[in-house]
Amino acid sequence: MHTRHQIHFENSKHMAALAAQSVDLVVTSPPYPMIEMWDAMFAGHNPDIRKAQSRRNGLEVFELMHRELDQVWQEVIRVLKPGAIVCINIGDAVRTINENFMLYPNHSRILNYFLQAGFTNLPAILWRKPTNAPNKFMGSGMLPPGAYVTLEHEYILVLRNGCKREFATAAARQNRRESAFFWEERNLWYSDVWMALVGATQRLVKDPGRLRSGAFPFEVPYRLINMFSVKGDMVLDPFMGTGTTMWAAMAAGRNSTGFEVEPGFQEVIGPQAQGLVEFSNAIIQDRLYNHIEFVQDRFKAKGGFKYTNKHYKFPVMTNQEKELLLNPLEGLEAIGDNRFDVTYLPGPQQTFEDNWQELSLGLADCASPPRRPAATASQRAVQLKLL
Ligand SMILES: C[S@@+](CC[C@H](N)C(=O)[O-])C[C@H]1O[C@@H](n2cnc3c(N)ncnc32)[C@H](O)[C@@H]1O
Repeated sequence: MHTRHQIHFENSKHMAALAAQSVDLVVTSPPYPMIEMWDAMFAGHNPDIRKAQSRRNGLEVFELMHRELDQVWQEVIRVLKPGAIVCINIGDAVRTINENFMLYPNHSRILNYFLQAGFTNLPAILWRKPTNAPNKFMGSGMLPPGAYVTLEHEYILVLRNGCKREFATAAARQNRRESAFFWEERNLWYSDVWMALVGATQRLVKDPGRLRSGAFPFEVPYRLINMFSVKGDMVLDPFMGTGTTMWAAMAAGRNSTGFEVEPGFQEVIGPQAQGLVEFSNAIIQDRLYNHIEFVQDRFKAKGGFKYTNKHYKFPVMTNQEKELLLNPLEGLEAIGDNRFDVTYLPGPQQTFEDNWQELSLGLADCASPPRRPAATASQRAVQLKLL
């Protein structure tokens, strides 16, 4: 198995390199309108925005910034296959203009665009990002009614292009079964509030004056890709920044393509690719150890399991997990022109084979399942770079 990844350092208003109906999933986070960090970039794309800013007309600026994003959404719609899903991470913005404090509802403006275009709105995820900044409460303090609620969440909008996707052939259905996730992951990932994700702060990369990233933590696109696509699918991020969606697609065995208007990110992305294989395999291994711990706890609480995974031979909760296979990465090759090829091993990780006899028989206490190794120093260094 292998996957291909291509970055285009171009404006995603025109994704000429992509054919119509060629993308299975979009996972992205655009620059957020009305967040100061992105003001200069929006104004650089449309001089009318700077004029509206100097008139201090907040709602006009908000609308003009969204019209910039609309042009990308329109192009996204062109390249999506029928049944494909779009996941957009977006936060609302609060801002005081002309002494008027107000919330600018970015999520509803974008949602509305896709609804007008005929998309099906699926339940969104609230990504909770609590802050403990001392100045987090704004307004009139303890005196009503002029104090304001603090924004401590962002949205992940989830929309579908038309009807549900079909898996028409036996091979497509088999691939879907091998792309399954664990029952206990389903319980966490499909909750509508995501808490405690690592690295959740908007951060600036390298040269704060020039490269503004607002990167999301790896776990966000990694979950979404596993939830809403299957192995071998094409994942698009039209606002790629530091490439987090692409790294997650590589780790999950999906193809990817990304667009980024700021060529400076090339310097950030190249070096990160070097640690990707080790990083992804550590993520995959973590999922498998989490499952083993889940199995041990469940044995103690509820007793035996009905199903066994065909590849790993460990117990699983449901029939749908029997063919689940998390392919380990074998190698990554940069093949020039901002392209990468990733190869995967066809079978399961050796550590997880043949160690399940006792566990499967319900002898969890006396079984000696493989132990979760402590992260090596180099894994930790790679994780720090990526997260
Ligand atoms: C919020 S950041 C995305 C961060 C990314 N998710 C990550 O993890 O690094 C938005 C990115 O979109 C880029 N951008 C903005 N408008 C664009 C456009 N029209 N075409 C391509 N990239 C664009 C910005 O330069 C910025 O890097």
